Amino acid sequence: MTTPTFDPTSDGQLADPYPTYTSMRDRCPVLHERNRNVLVVTRHEDVLRVLHDPATYSSESAVKAAAGPEADEVKQVLAEGWSLTPNLTESDGAEHTRLRVAVNRVFTPRRVAAWEPFIRQTAEDLIGRFAADGETDIIGSFAWPFPLHVVAGILGIPPGDVPLLRQWSHSWLRLSVGGGEVAERVECARDTIAMQNYVMAMLRDPGTAGEGLVASLAADRGPDGLDDVELMRVVMNLIIAGHVTVTRSIGNGLVSLLEHPSQLAALRDGSVPAEAMVEEILRFESPVQGLFRTVTRPTELAGRPLRPGDRLMVHFGSANRDDRALANPDTFDIGPRAGRNMLAFGHGIHSCLGAGLARLQLRVAIPLLFDRLPGLRLGPPDGRRRERLVIARGYDELRLCWEVP
Ligand code: HEM
Repeated sequence: MTTPTFDPTSDGQLADPYPTYTSMRDRCPVLHERNRNVLVVTRHEDVLRVLHDPATYSSESAVKAAAGPEADEVKQVLAEGWSLTPNLTESDGAEHTRLRVAVNRVFTPRRVAAWEPFIRQTAEDLIGRFAADGETDIIGSFAWPFPLHVVAGILGIPPGDVPLLRQWSHSWLRLSVGGGEVAERVECARDTIAMQNYVMAMLRDPGTAGEGLVASLAADRGPDGLDDVELMRVVMNLIIAGHVTVTRSIGNGLVSLLEHPSQLAALRDGSVPAEAMVEEILRFESPVQGLFRTVTRPTELAGRPLRPGDRLMVHFGSANRDDRALANPDTFDIGPRAGRNMLAFGHGIHSCLGAGLARLQLRVAIPLLFDRLPGLRLGPPDGRRRERLVIARGYDELRLCWEVP
């Protein structure tokens, strides 16, 4: 029996990675992927085991997909700014707790709920810009700008700076995930430094941040008193993690609903709550497919011995399709089981800080798109292009059409 090949950026797996994940779970649940020198953990039970044992599985370099040292040219540019880590995602133990406690104090469920009118208005305004056109690339016209305007508004960043945030975030991610040409990484490093300086300027002069979350964080630094650099990393985490994930969920969710008309009908006639739809779109095509952990002490997982320094990829996208945790996981079903054992937001101490905000945005935006764009349907097949990424699943382009009176 041959070992399955994990290659989510190949054409075949980009189109449909799920048969490969099924065979990995069945035959090789901790699979060594040689190119990236990483062990891919695909079963729901094993993913949970790793996430709940942060002492054995460190979050240092949790977003770094490419192995190997950084080029000197890139290091030189980065030396002009502040270290990118430890940030929330890539920290452990007491360091992580310090950061998380400080941000939890200002990012409360009550505050998130109060943002709903602003979120709805942001979605309405953006849809108003293209509703009369009858067709659009929904990724460019809505799925990118919507969560970025939301996160910018929440933080107190002026809407005019949103295009900068998009470019900087893209660069930070490219740099943190690793890989690519050195010249491109140098540019990404420059953008990252520009983003650091921008956020630092807001923190040092909180008046510029209006009444947003940046001003709140600067005023209430938590019981341990985070310094400006720590806060700057927290704010960058919020900006980056807070939009690319929602962008991908919107694209993935629209395609899942349009390809399953009976499920869309159930959402439209109100027989299923929008909350259940959100859980199922996140489970079915998880926007964050996987992130990384580093083994700190000898252990074993699914019968495989692990040594300190081994790198694991915890595969949320596969765990969410594991029939050991959920019956018929390859069926898109927004019915009562939606949300059961769902791991798209991770689990344990690093579980998504913005899950409530993400759910709210998706619950508002997706039904609104169907309300405002009558007869919404998929455009031509060549108007759909997937992002070629190992850690994420989404679209670069997604053309949709609808009726215009
Ligand atoms: C559908 C959208 C989203 C998805 C699928 C998602 C997914 C995730 C996942 C899987 C993790 C866990 C990382 C790990 O275990 O290493 C995470 C962490 C995180 N997310 Fe989200 N996220 C989303 C939206 C957001 C939003 C809107 C924000 C904030 C505005 C946000 C902020 C964060 C932060 C700060 C962390 C790090 C938490 C920690 O390490 O303590 N996310 N997210």
